[in-house]
Amino acid sequence: MNDMSGLPPAADVKAPAKTAFIKTYGCQMNVYDTTRMEDILAGEGYGTAASAEEADLVILNTCHIREKAAEKVYSELGKLRDMKRLRTKAGGEMVIAVAGCVAQAEGEEIARRSKGVDLVFGPQTFHRLPDYLARHKETGRTIVETEFPASEKFGSLAGRKSAGHGVAAFLTVQEGCDKFCSFCVVPYTRGAEFSRPVAQVLAEARNLAATGVREVTLLGQNVNAYAGDAGSSTASLASLVAELSLITGIDRIRYTTSHPRDMSADLIEAHASNVKLMPYLHLPVQAGSDRILKAMNRGHSAQSYLDLIAKVRATRPDMAISGDFIVGFPGETEAEFQDTLAIVRAVGYASAYSFKYSPRPGTPAADQDDQVPEEEKLDRLHRLQALLLEQQQAFNRSCVGKTLTVLLEKPGRNTGQMIGRSPYLQSVHMEQPAGLAPLAVGALVETRILAVGPNSLSGQYEGTVT
Ligand code: SAH
Ligand code: SF4
Ligand code: F3S
Repeated sequence: MNDMSGLPPAADVKAPAKTAFIKTYGCQMNVYDTTRMEDILAGEGYGTAASAEEADLVILNTCHIREKAAEKVYSELGKLRDMKRLRTKAGGEMVIAVAGCVAQAEGEEIARRSKGVDLVFGPQTFHRLPDYLARHKETGRTIVETEFPASEKFGSLAGRKSAGHGVAAFLTVQEGCDKFCSFCVVPYTRGAEFSRPVAQVLAEARNLAATGVREVTLLGQNVNAYAGDAGSSTASLASLVAELSLITGIDRIRYTTSHPRDMSADLIEAHASNVKLMPYLHLPVQAGSDRILKAMNRGHSAQSYLDLIAKVRATRPDMAISGDFIVGFPGETEAEFQDTLAIVRAVGYASAYSFKYSPRPGTPAADQDDQVPEEEKLDRLHRLQALLLEQQQAFNRSCVGKTLTVLLEKPGRNTGQMIGRSPYLQSVHMEQPAGLAPLAVGALVETRILAVGPNSLSGQYEGTVT
């Protein structure tokens, strides 16, 4: 490889059309934030670069939830710094920005640890990106901004229209967290709970519908704590879902992530009465031992969680339940870990995410002196994941022979193959039926499930709904 490999010629770097490349880590909320940053940059004349090598502006939209996630950012910054050096040598420029939760948590520290970083800004201030870019250009200094003006951000984004979402899109309706689970950084990186006003959410959903989106996933760290227009009848997630379901073109609604403490009766009931609300509930429990749940400051017990699941299933028997789990929280004994396996057995999950406890600086649990050894955490994780995988496969197998409505999202690898999602969020493959008009992305089709693969189902087209 020579020095210039992958770089455009210097003359092109100075050309007026600039490009940006954003790399996204972490949760769906970061994915959403990336789309909004792309909107902002498009307004500033930036095109999209296919890779960091080609971009004038590179943004890492980072995640701080576990140590590994945060460390990835520093190794990526090392690579970018080398790229930037080559670019500068060749007479070009490259602006490197760190956004997201690592930026919020570490601020100035990033600029100290990683030379070459030009902008550092948190999840609540990315709407000021044009201002940061201008200030940086003018002064040549590193700009670090880590305030929390959530309402200002959403207010300034409200009028923008995102394009190119495909048929399923994320829509952030709530942000931040007041729960302070003792292991978690989110309350520190995203700030206090904040809900966007109902009218703003509806306007954004209408825009999405106008660009061809048929499914929206409402996002929030505690999405079911949504309280849009406090004090009015539209103050709950259930009423927001009811209003969204009146929008022509929006045919499927999902929401994530919910907290067991905020799972209200009206939201559960909406799963029975609103056909657009999908039968899938991501409801993290984290652990099955009441002592550990208390130490985690979760505010619910194993039994209260099981009661909630029973209520949900009484209302909507086919509800697919998904969850998050942490193994090896400080002080967790083998018997307490067994309680986690027991609650998993009692619920029967359709899918799940599980993690080894990762001490996060500044959170209460990180200071406990009874940390579980790494090998023990890994062993517990393997045992938990084996059980969760078994359950996921059992759930998928239970769909064989059923007819599910699938929203077609993209063409498959083979000609004539289409890939979509079932109501339960499973990926479903199907072949183009012979002698019929080609299946289109965005169609809702009835599909008879024939087989289960490792990561998806395959089915046979039975007819188009709309
Ligand atoms: N707001 C959501 C999820 C937030 S983070 C909720 O309350 O459930 C996503 C998941 O990451 C959490 O559910 C938890 O399982 C995991 N997680 C958070 N902090 C962690 C830590 N310090 N170590 C390991 N996993 C963690
Ligand atoms: Fe983190 Fe707990 Fe808040 Fe979820 S509820 S974001 S796990 S503090
Ligand atoms: Fe990570 Fe921040 Fe999301 S820490 S999980 S990107 S809220």
